[in-house]
Amino acid sequence: MKDLVRRAVSGLMTQVALLPAQSSASGPRLDSFIEKQRAISLTGALNNIGPDGSMVPGVPAGIVVASPSQVNPDYYYTWGRDSALVFKMLVDEFILGRTELQRHIDDYIHSQALLQTVSTPLGTLLPAGLTIGQARFNVDETRWTDKRPQKDGPALRSIALISYSHWLISNGQSKKARDVVWPIISNDVMYTGQYWNQTTVEIWEGLLCSTFFTTQVQYRVLIQADQLARRLDLRCPSCKQAPQVLCLLQSYWNGDFIVANINVDPGERTGIDSSTILGSIAIFDINAKCDDKSIQPCHSQGLANFKTVIDIFRNGSQYPINKGVPINQGVAVGRFLEDTYNGFPWYLTTAAAAEYLYDAVGQWTTQKSLTIDQTSLAFFKDLYPKAQTKTYTQAGSKDSEFNDILKNIISYADSFASIIQKYTPANGSLSEQFNKTYPFAQASAHDLTWSYASFITMAQRRLHQYGDTWVPEPQLELPTKCFNSSVTGHYAPAIKAGAPDVTEDCLSNVLFQVNVSGSQNESVYLSGNTVDLGRWISTAWWSLSDSNYTIDNPLWFVSVPMSANKTISYGYIRQNQTTDGSAPYVYESVNRTLTVPPCSVDMDPSKILLTIDDTWDVS
Ligand code: NOJ
Repeated sequence: MKDLVRRAVSGLMTQVALLPAQSSASGPRLDSFIEKQRAISLTGALNNIGPDGSMVPGVPAGIVVASPSQVNPDYYYTWGRDSALVFKMLVDEFILGRTELQRHIDDYIHSQALLQTVSTPLGTLLPAGLTIGQARFNVDETRWTDKRPQKDGPALRSIALISYSHWLISNGQSKKARDVVWPIISNDVMYTGQYWNQTTVEIWEGLLCSTFFTTQVQYRVLIQADQLARRLDLRCPSCKQAPQVLCLLQSYWNGDFIVANINVDPGERTGIDSSTILGSIAIFDINAKCDDKSIQPCHSQGLANFKTVIDIFRNGSQYPINKGVPINQGVAVGRFLEDTYNGFPWYLTTAAAAEYLYDAVGQWTTQKSLTIDQTSLAFFKDLYPKAQTKTYTQAGSKDSEFNDILKNIISYADSFASIIQKYTPANGSLSEQFNKTYPFAQASAHDLTWSYASFITMAQRRLHQYGDTWVPEPQLELPTKCFNSSVTGHYAPAIKAGAPDVTEDCLSNVLFQVNVSGSQNESVYLSGNTVDLGRWISTAWWSLSDSNYTIDNPLWFVSVPMSANKTISYGYIRQNQTTDGSAPYVYESVNRTLTVPPCSVDMDPSKILLTIDDTWDVS
């Protein structure tokens, strides 16, 4: 295992000397666009991060706002996935020499330690880590009121924090890595080891399923956390789940392509989805072998899948802007063909296609060899019609077929980057989507932080700037049988990183019941003066359920985990249901208080420790 650790550390942001062709297959115009747009994108991303992001005034330090857009769509939230991918990019830029980014990384660490302790409708940090998977939070670090477990977020967050921890250790700051950063990673990794085998909301937030993207990043974080733990002289029992996660990862391939989402009724979806391309770039390791079971960009299944995914967007009747583009040229890439959220191309998926190809070229160049098999042949034939099923090697000469194939793939990658160039306005702003018909217009959330990050990671790979080497060497053995195993985590707030001590502050479930007569066409909310109750901030109110409501017994209820032993104020709010949600709120006139009981000794998270029976009061 020592070897692994050495590889993990030595691989940080390596810059591998590549074929000359990779630097500018599409000429100086693309080179200079990428250089300029990379700088604009970094500013664009930082503009959306507190405390001093110019587009997000008042947002706490380290909080990444997905987009400043507050209507159509309202993206003024902090998503776990988006934030982690943005910070992975920032950590890598920092390691590349942008020292001014370190304070943002330290702010992020602090903010994430806090968010790990915010109770959500999914549950609390203690005892079972349930809140860790919550998809998003309000930008003021309060709970978002929906229930959405997204298990890629914690894994991605810790992948970013692990890169930073290796840098800390290599720069004489092991104590900080161990005392401040590791406790956050430990919670995320315990959550992954405990719940990887349960369904998750997929990356595009439409299905509850097992999803290739999430399984890939979960595998990576379990391997990398183990490597980091050993370097810090710690243990990671949850990491032992890695072989089982790898086992699950093998089940997405259907013989033709990678089915993005399994363990779900696919409904209208074929499973052909660009999230699979995003998965392989999120786990890319420049030194990994192409047949590694983590499905790296140069893996035959990945390449066949790349062709299948990209080709669906060549359909000119569905994607008019891609009409007539030759097969060896890139197109504007969306999410999946049945997408009804506009169904437009996205900057980040188009950038991912380019990044994927730069990654694969980097891997073949490092290995000085490239093997084409039956699975990947069709991918290569589009780009190099003479391609055959065999191994091509670099063989010293610049004129080898190996070099020709790579040159063609580099220009294919550049043609995706050129699509972004073509559809980026002069000021360099990147929204989430852009029109699939002419005339060109941007669509959906403007200045999407993740769009900026995706442009920068693509630009890094084009310049041969690579992140951690992490894939085990020799390859991890697959278990003889896949099991739905799980390791129970022992979660704890990351106090040295700034988390509140929720161990002293343990939580008790309080069941609020209130009679509100004549409210059958209304919504009823609960709020109060504590973090648990949303500090009277409307975005964090709890929604009460009317599932037991009758005319005779107009009952609304919700069960809330609350800090024990505290006396707090609370109240109910009601609102007429209208399609646009714009009806005024009506508040009670009484001042209600209660004392939350001590926690249950057996720490059963589902036990109700106090039931409150109220009646709506505006006397
Ligand atoms: C919708 C996307 O599908 C999801 O992946 C993303 O996290 C959010 N928008 C926020 O950007």
